[in-house]
Amino acid sequence: MHADFQSWVAARQSHFEGVLRELLPRPDIAPQRLHEAMRYAVLDGGKRVRPLLAFAAGELAGAEQTRVDVAAAAVELIHAYSLVHDDMPCMDDDVLRRGKPTCHKQYDEATALLAGDALQTLAFQLLAEHRLNGDAARQLEMVRLLAMASGSRGMAGGQAIDLASVGKSLTLPELEFMHIHKTGALIRAAILLGAYCGSRLEAAQMDRLDHFGKLIGLAFQVVDDVLDCEADTATLGKTAGKDADNDKPTYVSLLGIQGARDMAQRLHREALESLAEFGGAAQRLRELADFIVLRKF
Ligand code: IPE
Ligand code: IPE
Ligand code: MG
Ligand code: MG
Ligand code: MG
Repeated sequence: MHADFQSWVAARQSHFEGVLRELLPRPDIAPQRLHEAMRYAVLDGGKRVRPLLAFAAGELAGAEQTRVDVAAAAVELIHAYSLVHDDMPCMDDDVLRRGKPTCHKQYDEATALLAGDALQTLAFQLLAEHRLNGDAARQLEMVRLLAMASGSRGMAGGQAIDLASVGKSLTLPELEFMHIHKTGALIRAAILLGAYCGSRLEAAQMDRLDHFGKLIGLAFQVVDDVLDCEADTATLGKTAGKDADNDKPTYVSLLGIQGARDMAQRLHREALESLAEFGGAAQRLRELADFIVLRKF
């Protein structure tokens, strides 16, 4: 990682931690245990890739930082909720997340279920109660966008396909459909929501940004599949080898490690091509795309 990019990432991550701390319900307010579990699931962990993408897209669109903070928080809360539920015994049944016991292990299943529910609704509360765009209709469009990306036509739908696919071997188009939904949709939304906080981009530029998001969101899950196979539990902060244990179809099970790596590279290249016309203004997005594909955790 280039030093300048590294310090941008570190500064944004630490700033964003403070934003989340403020926006989450205080742990001393009732119901304390639920609020503690929500904070446990969100704070002090994770790469914050989606917020970083929102920040980079916001910069590209000339957005006010405080607005992007809220949009990025909404996306990260949805992401954190999806991880809490993903780890529960009825789904992937995982005990380790972000280097700590999973939420249902630290608390209990009912609390984890409710923490996920409450994180999801808090995300939409934030989008409704903060001014994110001078144009109210545009702000409403942002609410719809996050809802679509999170629901049955987005993340939750992808997760349903994931669970229905255990023990099956999917075709490449089926696998792509699953990954674009379970992981790609929210990454795509993070980028668009960041950009929607500003007003500098035209419709055609938003379309190109969306195309970038689609490709890099898919690449993100291809790399997640590779890392599940290749990296160790300590580095990942989550149990390695879980996909094979759970008999999940992945890019690795379908194409092999090298085939999956090649796929990620191809998606990375195409994603960068869709940013070409933005020139130097999209440098942060390019660096994040590099990080997504080259990361080791
Ligand atoms: C993990 O996402 C789950 C997927 C959608 C692949 P991340 O790798 O972004 O997890 P954190 O937020 O850094 O923990
Ligand atoms: C999860 O995919 C996607 C989500 C919507 C949470 P995985 O099940 O592969 O994520 P990890 O590997 O547990 O983080
Ligand atoms: Mg899963
Ligand atoms: Mg999982
Ligand atoms: Mg995984």
